Amino acid sequence: MKEIGYYQNRFVDINDKVVPIQERGHQFGDGIYEVIRVYDGNLFTFEEHIDRLEQSAEAIELDLPYSKEEIHNIVQEGLDRSGIKEAEIYIQITRGIYNRQHHYPDGPAVFSMTVRHARKIDESTKERGIDTIVLDDVRWLNCYIKSLNLLPNVMAKQAAMKQGCAEAILHRDGIVTEGSSSNVFIVKSGTVYTHPATNRILNGITRQKVIEIAEKLRIPVEKVHFDLEMLRSAEEVFMTNTSMEIMPVRKIDEIELSTDRPITMKLIEEFQKLI
Ligand code: PDD
Repeated sequence: MKEIGYYQNRFVDINDKVVPIQERGHQFGDGIYEVIRVYDGNLFTFEEHIDRLEQSAEAIELDLPYSKEEIHNIVQEGLDRSGIKEAEIYIQITRGIYNRQHHYPDGPAVFSMTVRHARKIDESTKERGIDTIVLDDVRWLNCYIKSLNLLPNVMAKQAAMKQGCAEAILHRDGIVTEGSSSNVFIVKSGTVYTHPATNRILNGITRQKVIEIAEKLRIPVEKVHFDLEMLRSAEEVFMTNTSMEIMPVRKIDEIELSTDRPITMKLIEEFQKLI
């Protein structure tokens, strides 16, 4: 098994230095990305991720260099070459190589990819839940685009880590949006609440699966705005993304939540069956 990379039409060693200095992704963060999980050698929700990649591309007027089928072939070949069964695939498309002028170049977009071992989710962390801090959401207003520009997200995550926490819960004027790299759900009186899929959040693929599961289990889901007061008085809180799946929250700033999490546990159990 070995981790591998791909850059502009060829497979490379994961540690090869292949990105040219005039790359738009490198110079401007001018591009988009996706993170896809592989469980036991099988791509999980690949279609959904590529659909979202196409939406992001359209939103920034970027022509994808490959069709969905071509992307699938590259990803599958990468996976086969790596021999990794529990993998995390990172796909990145930038607006290519240019002479550092702000406007769009005419040249083709550049596709890159890494196939790496998935980060192991520590079962004891999942049982205990993660600690979080609440921060102002200072990002732009097009968070539905999975953009390479992650500086505010990176800063929020670092602020959380500095305080010994695993994730930051963001809010805009008191309305809870999402995490620095995840979506946020709360449970109140048996109902699950999460921010609607507007331009203020990334519509997580895991989020969509959780909503589907909840609806199948006849657990009511409200995709509505909720505020910090509601977050802080929630009975259960959890966060979702491709890497950590469904992760219970133990603490929000100084507030300790109950470790009794019947709805979160049911959703985790059902999600486990899906993967
Ligand atoms: N991030 N919101 C933000 C801001 C995210 O960065 C992510 C995922 C999500 C959840 O999306 P999904 O369920 O499709 O993974 C929500 C990925 C994992 C990352 O940047 O590594």
